[in-house]
Amino acid sequence: MSTLVEPTTATGLRFPAGFWWGAATAAYQVEGSVDADGRAPSIWDTFAAVPGRIDGGHTGERACDHYRRHAGDVDLMARLGLTAYRFSISWPRVLPGGRLNSAGLDFYDRLVDDLLAAGITPTATLYHWDLPQALEDEGGWLNRSIADRFADYTAAVAGRLGDRVGMWNTLNEPWCSAFLGYGSGGHAPGRRDYAAALTAAHHLLLAHGRAAEVLRATCPDAQISIAVNAGCVRPHTDSPADHDAARKIDGLLNRIFLDPLLLGAYPADVQADTAAVSDWSFVHAGDLETISQPIDALGVNYYQPDRVSFSTEGPADPYPTGGSVAFHQTPGPVTDMGWTIDETGLHSLLLRITRDYGPIPLYVTENGAAFTDRVTPAGAVHDPDRIDFLRRHFTAAHQAIQEGVELRGYFVWSLLDNFEWAFGYTKRFGLIHVDYETQQRTLKDSALWYSSVIAANGLG
Ligand code: FCB
Repeated sequence: MSTLVEPTTATGLRFPAGFWWGAATAAYQVEGSVDADGRAPSIWDTFAAVPGRIDGGHTGERACDHYRRHAGDVDLMARLGLTAYRFSISWPRVLPGGRLNSAGLDFYDRLVDDLLAAGITPTATLYHWDLPQALEDEGGWLNRSIADRFADYTAAVAGRLGDRVGMWNTLNEPWCSAFLGYGSGGHAPGRRDYAAALTAAHHLLLAHGRAAEVLRATCPDAQISIAVNAGCVRPHTDSPADHDAARKIDGLLNRIFLDPLLLGAYPADVQADTAAVSDWSFVHAGDLETISQPIDALGVNYYQPDRVSFSTEGPADPYPTGGSVAFHQTPGPVTDMGWTIDETGLHSLLLRITRDYGPIPLYVTENGAAFTDRVTPAGAVHDPDRIDFLRRHFTAAHQAIQEGVELRGYFVWSLLDNFEWAFGYTKRFGLIHVDYETQQRTLKDSALWYSSVIAANGLG
């Protein structure tokens, strides 16, 4: 890996013309209005209602009230100069109980029109974790027919919005849906069964492939992509055993998704590593052709690197490694999530994907940091740590571009402080502060700084 220039002092970095500068959110994290206009419950409504699952007993019931305040939020995006906005569509709003709900789709129709009127490219994620509860009751991602249901849902959404959405992400972070949702149980639907996690991972990929077919047929001008939480996995020491631990986690985090998507095959070592957990009979003839059809871009969500060693000490939740791997904190400063700030992981990851999977256009579909932000009596939010975090990561991305990575855009997570899944409202990732009592929005210093980056198409 090459050495980065000292990022915090770098100046004069310019990004390629037409680079997308965006921010991201997800439906359940920002919309609220969970009962409005015919929306049905999702697995996150169910999960959040179980005592002890979410910090503070929080739920997405109100969230940022984005469902009702989206017009004002688009005005804020325009004020910052965003050129793209990545939002997700709520499946249980659009197809509650399997029936098309026009009123639910109307919301996204308005949002897309408002974005276009503001010169912001709509980037829509079809699945950011809020499965209709009715489908979970039929087995959720363990029921193979979910791929058909997802194709139907995609057709409904693309039929209405397909003429205006610039880029589609079929899924957000299928690793989390599979391994946190069905493996460790830390996310909805909260199951703890690693054979199920592997099955879910395959059905998610199959659903991606089916959705990509529908999108290709319905919206030929839009880019089709998927957002993965690919990671930079490093061995704790240089020992062969630690390198092997890193291989295993890289397999279960990255290659289990990227290989079928981009190379058309599951990695043999991952199948061998998990043979005691599952016989992989969920893979049927023809599935890999569906999964590996061409996509136009890959979305990469990056937060921190992983550091692993060989271990005999027990399970490496949420990975089915049979207890042979332990995780270690990467040294360095951390965010309010306890995640290590290390932009070299992003740089390595972008280069590695380009090297191993060919020159595919990439977007950073999420990157950002939680800090304990407060509104001052003067009505400002001073968040120099977030500015430093973003400056470092933008610089690392810029370096990757100079080294040949075809990176076309960057979405900061998140536009707004929001419902951070199992952490509820206790973690603030936003460029914009949200007072959850009053729903008042306050631009943080980082938002103003980001706005100057966008205006300059670069740093310094
Ligand atoms: C990602 C999720 C996103 C947000 C960030 C912090 O894994 O995709 O919704 O929670 O983490």
